[in-house]
Amino acid sequence: MKIFLDTANRELIKNLLPTGVIDGITTNPSHLSKEGSDTRGVLRDICAMVPGPVSIEIVEKHPDAVLKQAREIAAFAKNAVVKIPFAVEYMPVIKTLTSEGVKLNITLVFTPLQALMVAKLGVTYISPFLGRWDDIGVDSAELLEQITDLKSTYDFESEILAASIRNIIQWQKAVEAAADVATVPPALLDQVFKHPLTERGIELFDADWQKLAKKSLFE
Ligand code: G3P
Repeated sequence: MKIFLDTANRELIKNLLPTGVIDGITTNPSHLSKEGSDTRGVLRDICAMVPGPVSIEIVEKHPDAVLKQAREIAAFAKNAVVKIPFAVEYMPVIKTLTSEGVKLNITLVFTPLQALMVAKLGVTYISPFLGRWDDIGVDSAELLEQITDLKSTYDFESEILAASIRNIIQWQKAVEAAADVATVPPALLDQVFKHPLTERGIELFDADWQKLAKKSLFE
């Protein structure tokens, strides 16, 4: 599974990149709104910092303006991926962009059939929103399974990018459903790295080693 960080915060990205497990970044207008008004500078820094794909969401509304902005985003950095919300009026735009070879991440996907529609257009990533499903009492794990089953049944190439992951259980369910990618908030990744039993175990090993009062393992 590829792991993307779901944030536009440069400090958090910088701190977690050395772990070597970050394959990309997903941003959205909500993330960007927390990072000040220099959105160009924020996105430029993130694209330069991260070797993998960086999703940047369109903020235009009219399909003509969306097409223009999508091309600008694609030209902004070689690792930029254009994020477009699922909507019928954007389908022709999506088709044009995929035929031009632009990498797209279709966001706000909530049903398997929505996923099928954009898979048919050859998008790079399809982003179902797990947390927002669970918010309204819908079992996100079951719907995600249906989407990943649909991918293997029809053998389409688009990658399933599990998004809106807010807790470890949702992330684990995305693994069980064999989602290609999980985009997770930095705090969730921290939770994986800092387990109290692992930390306690290290302390116990160290305490036992100190009893030997040796300087090195091989002296
Ligand atoms: O990747 C999309 C994600 O940021 C949405 O998360 O928690 O706002 O539903 P959330």
